[in-house]
Amino acid sequence: RLPEPFTLPLRVPSPLTPIRRDATTDYYRIVQRRANAVVLPGYSTPIWGYDGTFPGPLLVTERGRRAVITHRNELPVPVVVHLHGGHVPEASDGYPTDLLSPVDTMSPHDAMMMTSDPLAHTMIGERDYIYPAGQPAATLWYHDHRMDFTGASVWRGLAGVHLIVDPDERRLGLPSGTRDLPLLITDRAFDATGAFNYPAIDPTALHTPGVTGKFGRGVLGDVILVNGVPWPVHRVGTARHRLRLINGSNARVYRLRVDMPRGDGHFVQIGSDGGLLREPQRVDELTIAPGERYEVILDLSGCSVGDRVDIHNDLGDGNTTRVMRFEVVERVADTSTVPDRLSEIAPLHRHDAVTTRRFDFRRGDSGSMSGWLINGRPYDPREPIARPRLGEVEIWRLSTDLDHPIHLHLNQFQVLSRNGAPPQATDAGWKDTVYLGASELAEIAVRFTDYPGRYVLHCHNLEHEDMAMMATFTTHT
Ligand code: C2O
Ligand code: CU
Repeated sequence: RLPEPFTLPLRVPSPLTPIRRDATTDYYRIVQRRANAVVLPGYSTPIWGYDGTFPGPLLVTERGRRAVITHRNELPVPVVVHLHGGHVPEASDGYPTDLLSPVDTMSPHDAMMMTSDPLAHTMIGERDYIYPAGQPAATLWYHDHRMDFTGASVWRGLAGVHLIVDPDERRLGLPSGTRDLPLLITDRAFDATGAFNYPAIDPTALHTPGVTGKFGRGVLGDVILVNGVPWPVHRVGTARHRLRLINGSNARVYRLRVDMPRGDGHFVQIGSDGGLLREPQRVDELTIAPGERYEVILDLSGCSVGDRVDIHNDLGDGNTTRVMRFEVVERVADTSTVPDRLSEIAPLHRHDAVTTRRFDFRRGDSGSMSGWLINGRPYDPREPIARPRLGEVEIWRLSTDLDHPIHLHLNQFQVLSRNGAPPQATDAGWKDTVYLGASELAEIAVRFTDYPGRYVLHCHNLEHEDMAMMATFTTHT
């Protein structure tokens, strides 16, 4: 029933074409709708997709040009679009109650009733998301973010990749074109008909949030998809490749490793959530949690035709130990380079911080509710947990009970410490999601900039997020 791993070709997305461009802005239109996709050969899988596809269309924005994306909702439920890692104004950030309700299936009154948040900006049918794209080149992604139902909607297919590119990055001579590969990694479970299987308490995804009891720590699938293809194979030449690894899974954490027939397999990390690192670094394995991105160079220039290079997941078992394969099919010339200096990153210093805050991520009870809490509180859009001032550096101390990938909206941060020790190598650079294991403590430094308004921090295990492990912070001048 399941395909043999490494038999289906990788799908490499090409960028969506704007419907219009002017001097400053690229305009796009995306329709969110139901569709049927072939994920497992021989089966038709009902999905919810951006333009009816899973993953959604690839967006590529030149730094400094604005992207305006008109989303039209033809799905049976409200949606919220969040550009993960994007530095965007409040109105376009996809705050979890700023709903875009279905185009004709709901009256305006019903749409308002979908949220109990008096501050919500609900719209019906279509909504423009405006992304200034002033930030450095980075691998961002976009996905649904509706309060209480993000896990169910993303699982059905509402996720896609949005790259920011810029001239500084192009000058470096990194692998480009067909050797620059966005790889959105997701796991899924299927039922006997080939449909995605999600253990929602409420399959309509309208009324009761969350998943059935035993999935409280998150929903895992037994099939690993890369760009929507189960365990794909990519046939390539003997060249360096830039892999933009994105963990778009609801709850699965991967520890990725390169399996090479000869020589020692490794990655050279060049980027993180928020863009390029200061300098490349060799990594033998890479732990990537939901929401995180790592950009790496996979150097196949020493390979021979016929070699198979596998990306292996050391945290899986059985089929989930496999991710994808590169099969070397030809000798090619490669003029790419990986320079010693990739970008300038101004460090955020502890002594510049004016405020220190603590956020504890822990399972617990609050009133009648038991769930995943931050500082003992379940998500309540009306009650900000912090009010940072724009322009100031803050230290946030993040602690956990079990493992949680912790994500902040609005700005990228830097990891200052883990458990009182210096951060690990892969914490380098600009991050928007930091993965903490059980009973860990990290200190991050962040400076919120530009946009006053309501934003969130939350666990990016989507089932934890839907079960209230989220909080609002309000930035102000
Ligand atoms: Cu990728 Cu607030 O999420
Ligand atoms: Cu969590």
